[in-house]
Amino acid sequence: MFVITGATGNVGRHVVAELLDAGHKVRALSRDPATASLPDGAEVARTADLPLEGATGVLLNPAAFWNGVDELLDRARRAGVRRIVVLSSSAVLAGEGNPIGDHHLALERQVEATGLEWTHLRPGAFAANALGWADQIRGNGVVRGPHARAHTVPIDERDIAAVAARALTGDDLAGTRPELSGPESLTFADQARIIGEAIGRPVTYEELSPEAARAAMAYAPEPVVDALLAFWAEAVDRPQPVSSEVERITGRPARTFAEWAAEHVRDFA
Ligand SMILES: NC(=O)c1ccc[n+]([C@@H]2O[C@H](COP(=O)([O-])OP(=O)(O)OC[C@H]3O[C@@H](n4cnc5c(N)ncnc54)[C@H](OP(=O)(O)O)[C@@H]3O)[C@@H](O)[C@H]2O)c1
Repeated sequence: MFVITGATGNVGRHVVAELLDAGHKVRALSRDPATASLPDGAEVARTADLPLEGATGVLLNPAAFWNGVDELLDRARRAGVRRIVVLSSSAVLAGEGNPIGDHHLALERQVEATGLEWTHLRPGAFAANALGWADQIRGNGVVRGPHARAHTVPIDERDIAAVAARALTGDDLAGTRPELSGPESLTFADQARIIGEAIGRPVTYEELSPEAARAAMAYAPEPVVDALLAFWAEAVDRPQPVSSEVERITGRPARTFAEWAAEHVRDFA
């Protein structure tokens, strides 16, 4: 049996589905099981209860544990969990001083110190980040944000989920830190255009000044906003490296952003 934390999230939901499809038992954790809306086959439990009994592997989604993972890891050891798969971030490769990278790296190290088996998945930008544009696209079709020409290599969250499922159920990824990306480097303006092609209506990207972008991102903690704006400023007109890990691990090419957009037409139209 596998415990999936952050199970209602971008990646977790797909991991739950993938494991159930393959015939595994799944316990999916959410702060609110009543509204989690997860597949019928999954046992849904409360994150705060940390019910790890009987689990072979745990998918650790840091987004569900901002207050730390001490108790989760302690319970995992005591419950006889064999393996922890961390939904980490490629930001760990940015070097010390980047708050997003530092946070995930500390967590990776904490997991390694348990003595349990581990895999650290290190994806870059999720394609799902574009869902944050949905209101603007449904409105006037103009996405407003920083650095129109900043490159990322957006990865379809289903590809991260496929690798996560593999890491939980097989032995070949134990002790590895796969860097995961989509198949092509795209600017924010490219992503907006591709969503427009998927919904059959033009979508454009209007660049905001860094100050205006900062104000629009006030929902996130200031150091995180600073780190993201710095990443994107560095990536203006600079295509980012594409990883082939999704294909190597899953045996099929990483999904394109156009495929992702076609799957999400209803979110934007
Ligand atoms: N987005 C990216 O581009 C990106 C790139 C690389 C790495 N990452 C990393 O991937 C991980 C997942 O990120 P995500 O943005 O996709 O999040 P997410 O997985 O969509 O969210 C995870 C789930 O955590 C729960 N949650 C949210 N806030 C919580 C809180 N304060 N306390 C407890 N539970 C909470 C929510 O589930 P319930 O409401 O059901 O409890 C949510 O569905 C993060 O560690 C992130 O840093 C993200």
